[in-house]
Amino acid sequence: MYPSSTLRIDELTPEERSVYATLKPERMPGHVAIIMDGNGRWAGSRSLKRFLGHQQGAKSVQMVTETASRIGLPWLTLYAFSLENNLRRPRAEVNFLMRLLRSYLESNVQRMMDNNVRMKYIGRTHELPPEVQDKMRWAEELTAGNTGTTLTLALNYGGRSELVDAFRSLAVEMKLKHSSAERICEEDIHRHLYTAHMPDPDLLIRTSGEMRLSNYLLWQVAYTEIFVTDRFWPDFRGVNLLEAIADFQRRERRFGGLGQDSGEVDEETEHAKIVAG
Ligand code: FPP
Repeated sequence: MYPSSTLRIDELTPEERSVYATLKPERMPGHVAIIMDGNGRWAGSRSLKRFLGHQQGAKSVQMVTETASRIGLPWLTLYAFSLENNLRRPRAEVNFLMRLLRSYLESNVQRMMDNNVRMKYIGRTHELPPEVQDKMRWAEELTAGNTGTTLTLALNYGGRSELVDAFRSLAVEMKLKHSSAERICEEDIHRHLYTAHMPDPDLLIRTSGEMRLSNYLLWQVAYTEIFVTDRFWPDFRGVNLLEAIADFQRRERRFGGLGQDSGEVDEETEHAKIVAG
């Protein structure tokens, strides 16, 4: 249940409101992560250049973030630029994405303030161009006092490199504390992830139909529900986020345990039956 002070339901579109009305307030996800895929295919299907798909994708980022903030979603984490994108895409496309990110932050920071959205980043962001890092820091500092949705952009991010970075920093800490390897527990690894300050995602959405994790939040999605839609990211809107949440609410999360209709039996009754023959 989200605190009512963060809800701005009256600002939802009529279409969003009708899906929102079907949701159970006590089963809202705390953290939604999204793999935003399909910008290129969206553009290709309209005989447009790829960069126009990214530009349209940036509009979806803004709209989905605003819907998330209106329903009071605490954490929204978007895969905006992977390490692999950085290494494997043509330089011209990488440069375009960097310029798009800068202009996105510059032109949207006021809307983030109006929507009480706090900006954060995860990834090897220190490897991004300095002028992009400056803009990122600027937006993060300006929005730091906001108390609504935390929008985290995964930038120059890879799940495996996050684990490498976590293990390196854990090793440094262990050396300082003269601690031994047998004492390492899951909580220690969690503390050294980029996401140490946030809960694991409850729901992971992937657009444009691929059934892959693509090196996204590998540690964190251990028990996350996955929702894949064929819709391309530039066509994804707030109402589609709400539909994904509705689907999530129909799932039974078991975290490795038994479900409600598991036919679980009382151990003592069963034992008595066996003894009685
Ligand atoms: C996948 O499309 C998406 C990306 C490469 C990154 C996501 C980028 C954006 C949504 C644009 C800008 C974001 C911000 C935050 C300003 P793709 O090119 O892999 O699509 P394809 O698989 O159809 O080729």
